[in-house]
Amino acid sequence: MRERSRAWRARGERIGLVPTMGNLHGGHLELVDRLAGEVDRLVVSIFVNPLQFGPDEDYDSYPRTLEADLAALEERGVAAAFAPTAREMYPGAEPPRTGIDVPALTGTLCGASRPGHFAGVAVVVVKLLNIIEPDVAIFGRKDYQQLQVVRRVVHDLDLPVAIRDGPVVREADGLALSSRNSYLAPEQRRRAPALYAALCELAAALRDGRRDLAALEAQGRERLLAAGFDAVDYVAVRRCEDLAEPRGDEACLVCLGAAYLGSARLIDNVEVALHV
Ligand code: PAJ
Repeated sequence: MRERSRAWRARGERIGLVPTMGNLHGGHLELVDRLAGEVDRLVVSIFVNPLQFGPDEDYDSYPRTLEADLAALEERGVAAAFAPTAREMYPGAEPPRTGIDVPALTGTLCGASRPGHFAGVAVVVVKLLNIIEPDVAIFGRKDYQQLQVVRRVVHDLDLPVAIRDGPVVREADGLALSSRNSYLAPEQRRRAPALYAALCELAAALRDGRRDLAALEAQGRERLLAAGFDAVDYVAVRRCEDLAEPRGDEACLVCLGAAYLGSARLIDNVEVALHV
């Protein structure tokens, strides 16, 4: 992969990377389309990264649809799909001993309930960047905290890549597209848009000037439980910039939520720009 990408670079071509875990949907393809216009050669990586799944999480059942993914990418004219096996990415019996920790960002929200998850994401993203050596890589705002972690790692470690982001792509009823939506039974699927609705309601309250965050967050949780979610991991208002708790002077706040329908863990977020 690196030889191929270095040959492109030697010809003066600009290389883009879209990292994914496959089972491609409209959210992924939006990132592909956005970056395609900006580069000469687009690489899409497809790798279900064992390092970012906890022991009780869905690594084994995560949907793998390589043939359909490759067909969709071929249709879009991507230059290469990089789809290594776990053994190729992590040779030997043991996982890598080198870790990447971004403590200020990963002890909270999804990081708090998924210990080790973002460290696993950071390691695989840095490996992909080092293998493919793209000029630019793109990530979705759907995984808001992940995007922040990636930006932080790239900045702090001087990685020679530009990071772009893409908007959250949704179904017509508001549900954010996700490979994990396929875990939902029809009854759960019907309830799922309540997550986006609750975050929109919270965002509207902030736009109206309300700043009683604890009460608003509690109200968001209640709304999700009332809508039939089985458990709420968090509903939180944070600063866009660094996911810290708001101090009152920020120009951008983000409402984030994570909640369970059965064993499916859904996440979503809504940004609120404020006039300060
Ligand atoms: P995956 O969940 O496959 O997502 C790949 C990329 O698509 C991520 O940047 C994610 O934010 C984006 N994405 C997913 N659903 C989206 C939606 N509805 N709208 C917009 N963008 C969406 O995220 C991962 O894989 C992995 O953690 C990875 C970064 C590949 C590292 O293993």
